[in-house]
Amino acid sequence: MKLVKHLANLGYGSRKEVAWMFREGRVTDADGEVLYQDDPLDHDNVRVDGEPLDPPQGLLLMLHKPAGYTCSTKDKGRIVYDLLPPRFRLRDPVLSTVGRLDRETTGLLLMTDDGQLLHRIVSPKSKLAKVYEADLAEDLRGDEAQLFASGTLMLESETTPLLPAQMEVLGPRRARVVLHEGRYHQVRRMFAAVGNNVVALHRPRIGGLALGDLAEGQWRQLGQDDLDVLFNGSQA
Ligand code: URA
Repeated sequence: MKLVKHLANLGYGSRKEVAWMFREGRVTDADGEVLYQDDPLDHDNVRVDGEPLDPPQGLLLMLHKPAGYTCSTKDKGRIVYDLLPPRFRLRDPVLSTVGRLDRETTGLLLMTDDGQLLHRIVSPKSKLAKVYEADLAEDLRGDEAQLFASGTLMLESETTPLLPAQMEVLGPRRARVVLHEGRYHQVRRMFAAVGNNVVALHRPRIGGLALGDLAEGQWRQLGQDDLDVLFNGSQA
């Protein structure tokens, strides 16, 4: 791929705008030598205005999503992309959220531009546990864990029952739920099915990957080690 197209795909501007950046001498190598549009692509050795390039295609990141942000790009309000460098929204291939969290749900959200990886993460075949902590409006009844684990719970307007899910009581109005699939508003609808209401929902972990000390609104790029932890590992 030509250098000019690579930079355009990373969101530095349209092909035309990026072509101007070359003409203005803003694109150099690590030694400050001016690069040209057709020069061979050596991602790690390219600088724009002296700064290293954004991560190349194959980006995977985790975001600690705060409440009040939607996962959609079309929403007129706050969106999760507002929490990332503005260029990330202009990348081609696009940076997508891996599944979604509701606007008011907080916690671990993965984002990637790698379609195959996205499907591997969301596929029920991967059996990746999605862990949620729910604060409830009413006291737990006592039969929820058994019902959620039954594999027979049918949510309104669905045609197949939910896969068995695990529930642990954390307090009279607080529970941890572990899902192995991701249906629309699933946790909220599960508690609605047992006559309760979720007032706050947080996802601290997917698979072996935990938010750790990543503060709300912060993100970090993930590497191969994190992927291994996501699929196979465990983290404190
Ligand atoms: N279940 C929900 O109800 N909401 C989420 O955001 C995630 C899972």
